[in-house]
Amino acid sequence: MDFTEIAEKRQSCRSYDPARTVEKERLDSCLEAARLAPSACNAQPFTMYAVTGDKAKELSDHKNSGMGKFVEDCSTFVVFVEDSYNAMAKTGSVLTGLDYRSIDIGIACAYLTAEATEQGLDTCIMAYFSNKKVQEILGTRKKIMLVVAFGYRKADDPQRPKKRKSADEIVKKI
Ligand SMILES: Cc1cc2nc3c(=O)[nH]c(=O)nc-3n(C[C@H](O)[C@H](O)[C@H](O)COP(=O)(O)O)c2cc1C
Repeated sequence: MDFTEIAEKRQSCRSYDPARTVEKERLDSCLEAARLAPSACNAQPFTMYAVTGDKAKELSDHKNSGMGKFVEDCSTFVVFVEDSYNAMAKTGSVLTGLDYRSIDIGIACAYLTAEATEQGLDTCIMAYFSNKKVQEILGTRKKIMLVVAFGYRKADDPQRPKKRKSADEIVKKI
């Protein structure tokens, strides 16, 4: 797939096939793509927790984790946890008032999910969850930024047309 095809194909999956698990090699390719993502001052101010097995079972208990009910059928997650800036990124962020860490994590997550699409996987990026509960499951007190559900969508879950602002609304050519 070229990149435009990946961008068109990637969609938030909320209907996972519980019978299919994500192969380790495919997940590793996604983590590697995210590792290669650019970041302000090359700080890479995050850790990606690749969560499978019993810990994934805990995360998929949506009553606890606060995520959507659909995660019950997921057995693989990647959780972005915020780390410290390096000195240069911290200075830049203070001087500009920009939150470089959120930007960096967003870019890495875009790489992660784009590679997942290339690998034939389905994903859902989530920023709505119980920070405390996810921290407890991971065993960290650092800020949880994003949880990404991984899996294969059910056979009857269709590819949806994209609903987006028009180019006129979102692009200004000056
Ligand atoms: C930062 C961020 C947070 C999101 N949080 C959630 C979430 O908590 N739960 C959920 O079901 N989808 C979540 N989404 C998915 C968006 O709703 C989705 O990307 C958007 O509606 C566009 O649809 P598409 O991803 O299928 O193209 C999130 C997406 C992003 C980028």
